Amino acid sequence: MQRWYHRLSLSTMVSTWNLALSIFLTLSVYPIVSAWTSTPFNPPSYPLAVRTPYLSTWLPSGSGAALNDVWPQFWTGAITGWAGFLVVDGDAYSFLGDPDVSGAAFAKATQVSAEFTSTQSIFTLKAGSIEVTATFFSPIEPTDLVKQSIPFSYLSVSAASTDGLSHIVSVYTDISGEWLTSNDALTINWTTTATAAVITHQSQLETQTVYGESADRILQGSVYYSTENLAGTTYQTGQDIVVRAQFINNGVLSDTVDTNYRAVSDDWPVFALAHLLGDVTSTPQSVVFSIGQVRDPVIEYIQQDNTFEGRSYYFWSAYSTIAEVISDFLSDYSAALSRANSLDETLQAASASISSSYTDIVALSMRQTFGATELTISGSPGAWNTSDTLMFLKEISSDGNVNTVDVIMPAWPAFMYLNPALGKYLLLPLLQYQATGQYPNLYACHDMGASYPIANGHNLGNDEPMPIEESGNMLNMALDYTQRTGDTSLVTTYSSLFTQWADYLVANTLFPADQLATTDFDGALPNQTNLAIKGIIGIKAMSVILSTYLHDASSASTYNSTAESYLKTWQTFGISTDGSHLILEYGNETTEVLGYNLAMDALLGLDFMPASVKSLQSTWYENNMALYGFPIDSRTTYTSAQWMIWTGMTTSTSVQNGFIDAIRSWLSSGLTSTPFGDRFEDDTGANSGNEARPVVGGNLALLLL
Ligand SMILES: *[C@@H]1O[C@H](CO)[C@@H](O)[C@H](O)[C@H]1NC(C)=O
Ligand SMILES: *[C@@H]1O[C@H](CO)[C@@H](O)[C@H](O)[C@H]1NC(C)=O
Ligand SMILES: *[C@@H]1O[C@H](CO)[C@@H](O)[C@H](O)[C@H]1NC(C)=O
Ligand SMILES: *[C@@H]1O[C@H](CO)[C@@H](O)[C@H](O)[C@H]1NC(C)=O
Ligand SMILES: *[C@@H]1O[C@H](CO)[C@@H](O)[C@H](O)[C@H]1NC(C)=O
Repeated sequence: MQRWYHRLSLSTMVSTWNLALSIFLTLSVYPIVSAWTSTPFNPPSYPLAVRTPYLSTWLPSGSGAALNDVWPQFWTGAITGWAGFLVVDGDAYSFLGDPDVSGAAFAKATQVSAEFTSTQSIFTLKAGSIEVTATFFSPIEPTDLVKQSIPFSYLSVSAASTDGLSHIVSVYTDISGEWLTSNDALTINWTTTATAAVITHQSQLETQTVYGESADRILQGSVYYSTENLAGTTYQTGQDIVVRAQFINNGVLSDTVDTNYRAVSDDWPVFALAHLLGDVTSTPQSVVFSIGQVRDPVIEYIQQDNTFEGRSYYFWSAYSTIAEVISDFLSDYSAALSRANSLDETLQAASASISSSYTDIVALSMRQTFGATELTISGSPGAWNTSDTLMFLKEISSDGNVNTVDVIMPAWPAFMYLNPALGKYLLLPLLQYQATGQYPNLYACHDMGASYPIANGHNLGNDEPMPIEESGNMLNMALDYTQRTGDTSLVTTYSSLFTQWADYLVANTLFPADQLATTDFDGALPNQTNLAIKGIIGIKAMSVILSTYLHDASSASTYNSTAESYLKTWQTFGISTDGSHLILEYGNETTEVLGYNLAMDALLGLDFMPASVKSLQSTWYENNMALYGFPIDSRTTYTSAQWMIWTGMTTSTSVQNGFIDAIRSWLSSGLTSTPFGDRFEDDTGANSGNEARPVVGGNLALLLL
């Protein structure tokens, strides 16, 4: 991975000779990448167990690492130890993780293929005469709120003989305390529960901090590693090398527990489960493990009068113990897999009508998007209130804000496409809070709290200020939700907030003050063309809300004519004097911008934006596209995956395909091993550090057209 990166860095050192050399060196690395079949391609990082901001484990694979070359990682890069071995007729093979077991001999299984779909990452490896398939499956259950809120993921391991003979096979996996924290010095404890049906290892930090985070890990709750208790199932807890050697040498575990609770790295305690499959023929035999991270309460949410409520996972409305959740989750595996396969197929079929590259981008976006969210309810055991469902989303990596409006907005298409009600559950925390009157600004607030999972609002009004950006976003999302569902509850209940924000836009959006847009990494700028149009479309959206849903024709007509007149003025300031393209800021002729906010018009089906503006921009993109896309604006060479897809809603098909192919080409370049980065340089492909963010949900934008 390191060598690969250095070689590509070299290649950016301009001279043709260096470029030629780097191409040569790059090609020489290819055999590593293509030693197995990658379907559809080898991504920067495979999602392994990705369901919540804290259950987020990936395989860093961009450089061509196999499942058993490196340790799985939390999205930040901290190792989440997850080891897997197989014993075949007495010979041991590792198939998962990068364990070093002194004193026990094993070979590495050879990876044959790797594949990702929207819900699964599937690896096939050869271990002697056995082919082992490890399926990492993180369900997406958009219309079943109980199931969607269960913070668990599956690993299924299946084995089949490839030589026509039968072989005695056992399968082993373990996890380390690194699933609880990135600080190996913290003390953890653990217990093992074996019932007739299920064996579970539960582990947790000895010092718990409710709602506490450190290095993006939660300092609260427990990790559960489980499997069905079948004939031949064994378990063990203890030091990594001891437990792994026990399995490698014997093919079974000792059914013993270590009760010497200690730090994560103090003789590395691991929690292991094994299955003796017995004679395995060419008919695959499989076993399933589940991994989950559960805490309660999940979110702290501000109420009237600056009081706070602890909110719990939605699934508690259907369960009273975690043991029942785990038991159902494991026994639901086959049914869950069929639902997931049909979701994969639906997304595949819909996106294939655009292009196969688009299909790949969509598939890699799904678990990452849903894995940044948690569905919650209020109440207490026996008195849960499912009428009070709220969804929380962590911004991830750019910072840890809760329900950031300009992160929900780019991510929005994934929720709208799979179940628009989820959009409502994401907006409600913001709307309810601002309706309490505690947020002092006239414009829409940026987020629900600076640091997930604390949604404590911004009663001092000192949230990151993006006045036009967030007011426009709230209006546009409210109208979109209402149009797609016919549910008028948001626009009727919160009509005074929407009016307040629309009035703010009327007063401020035509000539925006020196302020931030969602491109905050580039700093503030006055008179941003692309920001202004978001606000103008927001005013237009208000007129539609008033005319269609609130039946106030006279106010609707006032907002409508304001929007129409602003649009004309905007064109005179926002388009370069030669009429060739939109400029970043009024009056600065040497600039250009990715006009992704024009897509709000397409999203809402307003047909408000003149075709001439879309057409000139489309031509400009066509003529000015770099290797990995078109820059967000003139200030840097950074581009943005999801904003290019959004922009593709307003361009010619050929430009839309150009954006898609640029993103697909960046994702498969081997330049990075982080979870899907959404901001990278349009020429070198260097990643900015924005990674694992839910904004990739915006990659579904074209499915909404
Ligand atoms: C482990 O630590 C937690 C949190 O401090 C505590 O509640 C629990 O009782 C401990 N469990 C064991 C087995 O010591
Ligand atoms: C349940 O939630 C709804 C929606 O927030 C609220 O109107 C209702 O009062 C709540 N019910 C109880 C019993 O708290
Ligand atoms: C924005 O542009 C207008 C028109 O050119 C100008 O009058 C105004 O001063 C600019 N605003 C800022 C904050 O620079
Ligand atoms: C909005 O204004 C435009 C231009 O004047 C007009 O064509 C359109 O019918 C108006 N729409 C509504 C809903 O009033
Ligand atoms: C125009 O924009 C470019 C790129 O952001 C910037 O470097 C330059 O200073 C701007 N010019 C003026 C006159 O503001």
